[in-house]
Amino acid sequence: MIISDLRLLYPWPEECPDLVLDTEGWCHEEVEAAIRTIMPAGAAVLMELGSWLGTSARIMLGHAPQATVICIDHWLGSKEHKPGGRAESDKLPILYEQFLRNMWDDRARVIPVRADTLQGMEAVARCGIRPEAIYIDAAHDRPAVYRDIDNATRLFPGVPLVGDDWPFASVREAVWRAEKDGLFAKIPYRQHGQFWWGCTKEKP
Ligand SMILES: C[S@@+](CC[C@H](N)C(=O)[O-])C[C@H]1O[C@@H](n2cnc3c(N)ncnc32)[C@H](O)[C@@H]1O
Repeated sequence: MIISDLRLLYPWPEECPDLVLDTEGWCHEEVEAAIRTIMPAGAAVLMELGSWLGTSARIMLGHAPQATVICIDHWLGSKEHKPGGRAESDKLPILYEQFLRNMWDDRARVIPVRADTLQGMEAVARCGIRPEAIYIDAAHDRPAVYRDIDNATRLFPGVPLVGDDWPFASVREAVWRAEKDGLFAKIPYRQHGQFWWGCTKEKP
């Protein structure tokens, strides 16, 4: 597993962006509890799809003190953050720099993979890295959630997944479809309140 290769591909800037800390984020307490329960505290590498300004990544850093956290996000925002969306945000132009500012003190343990989730996961896999668990909270439309589960299954078989936003019909439908298509391990996915969890299928 060559974490240093991924660090070279997605380096931190020399200097901290000149911004004030902004800890806005969405990580429901039930999701935080799921991260703490399902992700291994002794992990060396954890990964998330969808980081925004770093709230969920900070929870993982605190939960797994030895872990490097790979944060995959294009930092362009999701549909809901765009004008007219339910979580419209004026932060999109500085989202990536704000994430770097927020995570600056933890930069030795965070790799900001600025990429689409598929490109990011492929880069991680090409470096020979296998995360010990993956948190899924990027785009929430049904095809995108399904694709994230499908790609995670293809690239990282046998890895626990924790997914956010179960109350969204699009997320539920994607998980149901993934279950139907046999993307999960033998143990079926489970759901509680705000989150769902499962495990990607092992290679046959
Ligand atoms: C709901 S936010 C993540 C919230 C974050 N987990 C937290 O704790 O605050 C979703 C994030 O996914 C990112 N995103 C959406 N679609 C993406 C895609 N296809 N590839 C990479 N990132 C994506 C957005 O830029 C946004 O930052």
